[in-house]
Amino acid sequence: MIEDIVIYPDERLREVSKKVVEFGSNLKETLDNMYETMMDKSGVGLAGVQIGKLDRILIVNIPRDDKMQYKEDLLEVVNPKILEYSGEILFQEGCLSIPNFYEYVKRYSYIKLQYQDREGRVKEIEANDYLAVALQHEIDHLNGVLFIDKLSILKRKKFEKEYKRQKV
Ligand code: CO
Repeated sequence: MIEDIVIYPDERLREVSKKVVEFGSNLKETLDNMYETMMDKSGVGLAGVQIGKLDRILIVNIPRDDKMQYKEDLLEVVNPKILEYSGEILFQEGCLSIPNFYEYVKRYSYIKLQYQDREGRVKEIEANDYLAVALQHEIDHLNGVLFIDKLSILKRKKFEKEYKRQKV
């Protein structure tokens, strides 16, 4: 089912999501709905809070070189924990919860991530560049952090200005 996206400045986006302890049919349904919702909105990543589920869950589906997203590349991440990180990358980000605003954000270019899959199995993944950036962006959502929080004061002002203009 396609869900409504929680849009900035909705206060739920500032909440810290809760650790998942039950790996049952509710979790699977939520993850399926997140995938449907993300694809419907042409996103590459989505966190639970963005559909109003305050659980530590996120999905990422990075396009390949042909710009297409393949479901076999879909990564479902539950209870993520960054074990290692290094490097620096400047990447232009957007967010389905902050429509029509894109800006460059500095992130780690490499992360090693521990997480659980939808069955509760513990996994590890190493991610670079685009995938590393997307994972960090979504993990931030689980802690109530948005990419606009990472901007310089100048760029943040530019956002506030554009946001006000959009609202009018
Ligand atoms: Co986002």
